[in-house]
Amino acid sequence: MTKPPRKIAIAEPDLSGNEEKYIVECVRTGWISSKGKFVNQFEEKFAEYIGVKHAIAVSSGTAALHLALAALDIQPGDEVIMPTFTMIACANAAKYLGAKPVLVDSEISTWNIDPNKIEEKITKKTKAIMVVHIYGHPADMDPIIKIAKKYNLYVVEDAAEAHGAEYKGKKVGGIGDVGCFSFYANKIITTGEGGMVTTNDDEIAEKVRKLRDQGYNPSLRKWLVHDIVGYNYRLTNLQAAIGLAQLERIEVFINRHRENAHYYNSLLKDIPGITLPPEMPWAKNVYWMYTCLINEEITGVTRDEVIQMLETYGIDSRATFLPIHMQPPYKNYYSQEKYPIAEMLGKRGINLPSGNTLTKIEIEYIVDILKELLIKNDIA
Ligand SMILES: Cc1ncc(COP(=O)(O)O)c(C=O)c1O
Repeated sequence: MTKPPRKIAIAEPDLSGNEEKYIVECVRTGWISSKGKFVNQFEEKFAEYIGVKHAIAVSSGTAALHLALAALDIQPGDEVIMPTFTMIACANAAKYLGAKPVLVDSEISTWNIDPNKIEEKITKKTKAIMVVHIYGHPADMDPIIKIAKKYNLYVVEDAAEAHGAEYKGKKVGGIGDVGCFSFYANKIITTGEGGMVTTNDDEIAEKVRKLRDQGYNPSLRKWLVHDIVGYNYRLTNLQAAIGLAQLERIEVFINRHRENAHYYNSLLKDIPGITLPPEMPWAKNVYWMYTCLINEEITGVTRDEVIQMLETYGIDSRATFLPIHMQPPYKNYYSQEKYPIAEMLGKRGINLPSGNTLTKIEIEYIVDILKELLIKNDIA
């Protein structure tokens, strides 16, 4: 087994399109802050791509979640329902507004929020359901929208990991009231750091734009007069320049992620104790991170041991999310609550290298090493 010539990163951006050209244009023209044509173009093209009326570029996926909830007027004491198996930014966004994250376990078939366990968590204080399309697989939206309608709740879609993923032929981020995306460097498309809020609702869009920009209301044309307390969550023209170039090739990246995932699946499917990532018949999974589960009772090797061993072979991998109810800032609030599926996903899940530059040869190398470790149980 020959070692690949470089370390295999968990995810690496592919910046080989128009990124450099557009960045050079920003530098030469001096448009490097949040004003400039690339911000507008990136927003317009992103809205078109997702199939929504409005896309508002912001400084991160976390900022997108915060602004989405703020624009829905989530107040201190309100409750926001969300899966516990997600990134901590989801809970933090609610906390920033003094709201309470109310947690729900995952369903085993999609690893996303279990629609059958939402209704029991609804109280008079519930204002919104935050759905997360984890690792690029859409959540089961129909039953969730139905519950939201029944109880008059907003639906926020966290699509930070799911650019271009589809639920019954419709792109995620355009199904609920508001969608939120991240463009961190390991995402399917990147701006380095960055995010986007998507919506079909004119009022929500206007509020997000205002909150992004210190509460400034451009229609009043009163310079330095601010309508409300807002934030500086603007994306720069430099970042949007990269984002626009990335968006031009989004389908190439998605196809790469899907082809690589299918290749991993074909090579890993016969290893006892490995569960492959889901793809429901109604879903287009974009496999942001190729994630599988390692059942240590069958393999004799834990997920954490596998991560350590892969590292010694120059392969970068990651543990799946530690559920929110087990995170240090939150665990005391949820100490009486149990979420067995989320805990299992957090304990057994491993993200294998999944970036836009990953090659078939690298996948073969990774799988050969995994077979060594898991089938021979050779973990000396
Ligand atoms: C599900 C989810 N939500 C939100 C975020 C936050 O995005 P950002 O890192 O751009 O703030 C991430 C980041 O990876 C994420 O995975």
